[in-house]
Amino acid sequence: MADVAQGQALNERVMGDACTFVIFGATGNLSVNKLLPALYHLEEAGRLPAGTAILGVGRRDWDDEYWRGEVESALAPRSRAGHLDPTAFARFRERLHFVTGDLNDPALYARLKQRIEVEAHLPENVVFYMAIRPAEFSIVSANLSQVGLHRETGGWRRLVVEKPFGYDLESARILDARLHRDFSEEQIFRIDHYLGKGTIQNILVFRFANLLLEPLWNRNYIDHVQISHAEARGIEGRADYYDGAGALRDMIQSHLLQMLTLVAMEPPALLDAEALRDEKVKVLRSIRPIPASAVHAHAFRAQYTRGMRDGRRMAGYLEEQGVPPDSTTETYAALKLYIDNWRWRGVPFYLRTGKALAANSSMVSIRFKHPPQQLFRETAIESLKPNWILLGIQPDECLRVELQVKQAGLEMRSRTTQLDASYRGPDEAQLDAYEALLLDVIDGDHSLFLRYDEVEWAWRVVDPVLKVWATERDFIHTYPAGAWGPREANRLFDREDQHWRNTVARDDDP
Ligand code: BG6
Repeated sequence: MADVAQGQALNERVMGDACTFVIFGATGNLSVNKLLPALYHLEEAGRLPAGTAILGVGRRDWDDEYWRGEVESALAPRSRAGHLDPTAFARFRERLHFVTGDLNDPALYARLKQRIEVEAHLPENVVFYMAIRPAEFSIVSANLSQVGLHRETGGWRRLVVEKPFGYDLESARILDARLHRDFSEEQIFRIDHYLGKGTIQNILVFRFANLLLEPLWNRNYIDHVQISHAEARGIEGRADYYDGAGALRDMIQSHLLQMLTLVAMEPPALLDAEALRDEKVKVLRSIRPIPASAVHAHAFRAQYTRGMRDGRRMAGYLEEQGVPPDSTTETYAALKLYIDNWRWRGVPFYLRTGKALAANSSMVSIRFKHPPQQLFRETAIESLKPNWILLGIQPDECLRVELQVKQAGLEMRSRTTQLDASYRGPDEAQLDAYEALLLDVIDGDHSLFLRYDEVEWAWRVVDPVLKVWATERDFIHTYPAGAWGPREANRLFDREDQHWRNTVARDDDP
């Protein structure tokens, strides 16, 4: 791994090789909203190796000049500063090239090869970024190999695969076998953009750079762990993809299980790609399988209906454009998992995600057990609240520890206070996850990318739930858009004193 302290990492990296960064799906959402802004910000920061070219591939009949204009208008509102730096953009625009074609047409790949190797003499090190529909991943990979673009004769060739990697365990296996016909594991980068977030990487620093926590980080002291990702927005016109996926596949199989591995893993011997991923896989393999008969006790799903936020009416899922009127796709999913190893046996991990909830809030909340003796029972401190560690991922990037302290005054009363160990100061820039990850691809660093066995074991965790849900398509719980999700989801909790933490603000619940 380049470095876990992201901001520092970007400044300390040694500049990688010049390369040609090919984007399949260059005019799509991911490219416009994430990849091009990330590449531009790397340009501003002087991090793109000299000679690097960016080659967009799309169906539109555009030439280089036209695409450059399009990129300029798309980047201006998306740049961190709110406007483009004229010198940096002048450099950036010179790097941009465009090739028109249909991904299913073999002639496109011949043209691509011609453009890279003959016409434009672009760098022979090539990243192929598949910012396209998953159904097209294997088509592109096969076509690249047909024209020999996968061969590392003049320089390296790397293939970046976006999530979702497969639709279930079986399709993930098929896809992997398909990609491996043309590319080696060394060449494949399976991206999970959550691993590029500074706050996620901070989980590792927090755990392994502070000796203080290690003795407490286990079943003896921790009551349960919550990993929660709430989004205020609905599906934002993505029905095409989302209705076939649902919340469990979209967020839990990938991002939330990755977060779980970082919270639960053993310290790796080294922070290199293999050691780190070995430890993550061990966690996934230790998750107790959910048998079909226990799916209802361990998993919960629901869908949002019409609701209100801040006095504004919000559409229900079935009213969203492109959603079939009888869809029972879940927009909310929660899971209770147990990790059957020495450290975690018996500690529930509750994972939850939902669209159209009350607020945007992504966090890991770790609740400690009660002290063994309620010493203050006879005084006004009737029931002590437990300690929590809260790792705010977004929008609050913070790390807080909740403790009980005595209230000032004559009475023996306690109150909750929070120690704040926030990760980013107000004057430190917030980098987008893609900036660090794209540089890692150029540097050939796999640490923050998924090895196939991670993907496979993550599918094994959710597959039994997906199978049962697929057979129960006639009913789904609902929750009004703008609320914190359905009350019925609380049935997953092992005990009555457990409840969802929705924000990193102080817990004033009774
Ligand atoms: C994507 C999911 O992978 O992650 C989206 O497909 C989700 O549905 C998004 O909204 C969340 O990412 P972020 O970085 O906005 O928290």
